[in-house]
Amino acid sequence: MKDQIILNHYKNLAKNWGLQGQMSMQDKVIRQRESDFIIAQTQHSLRSRGISPEKARILDLGCGNGHLLSVLWESFAGSTLVGLEFVPELVELARTRNLPGVTIHHGDMREELALGEFDVIITERSVINLLEWTWQEAAFQNITRMLTVGGHYIMVESFYESWMELKAARLENKLSEVPISSHNRYLKEACVDALLKLGLCEVSAVEPQNALSSHFFLSRVFQHLFTNENTPASERVWEFFAQALPKNIGNYSPIQFRVFEKQ
Ligand SMILES: C[S@@+](CC[C@H](N)C(=O)[O-])C[C@H]1O[C@@H](n2cnc3c(N)ncnc32)[C@H](O)[C@@H]1O
Repeated sequence: MKDQIILNHYKNLAKNWGLQGQMSMQDKVIRQRESDFIIAQTQHSLRSRGISPEKARILDLGCGNGHLLSVLWESFAGSTLVGLEFVPELVELARTRNLPGVTIHHGDMREELALGEFDVIITERSVINLLEWTWQEAAFQNITRMLTVGGHYIMVESFYESWMELKAARLENKLSEVPISSHNRYLKEACVDALLKLGLCEVSAVEPQNALSSHFFLSRVFQHLFTNENTPASERVWEFFAQALPKNIGNYSPIQFRVFEKQ
């Protein structure tokens, strides 16, 4: 039943968006900032361990239509790039990209995986698609097992506590809550302890973990105080604010950028 929610949700998105980057994230600002963070962090993680791009092994767990893999492919020529995806329609789409050196597996990150060892493992809003904590924990166990010692887990996932902050700001301003979608189960801060017990220790990242906070506050709270909910501000407005303001004011972004190192 819970798997069906995920399968149906992404089957529809695959049909409507195809290979577009917006398949899993319609907000272009967020999509771009996630990609920029993942590329910069992967570069930093590899460089800090003296791993050249040609020797790097990078895994995207829950690779969707392969958009992120295609962005990684442009920046890490010669690397071994692997994606794992649960939804057959998305596996098919990702494979149509035919990127040399990129392998797409059809599989389930909750099950014990034998995909080899990786220097960097990325999840981009995919662990939150696992709708029970025990499933999320199983994915974290897989990540720990597949990382090399000193390897980095780059986590771009939504957290319940920061979603609550955003909700409070909206309610104070007489805006309705933005509900957590039925295909998501947000992580709680306590998962960081669970990761530590597995042997994954949080380390500082190239961006603050709340790097999307100002954008969430502006786009989900502030703009609705002066525009109609159905007429969002144009991209020019977000570009202006991105340059005018620090990115990480407050804790209003459910989506956080975090990095964990295997001990
Ligand atoms: C937000 S999307 C990821 C976006 C992707 N990085 C991209 O470039 O478009 C999350 C992905 O996780 C996949 N997913 C959900 N449950 C999964 C599971 N148990 N195993 C593997 N992938 C899963 C979803 O089908 C979806 O494609």
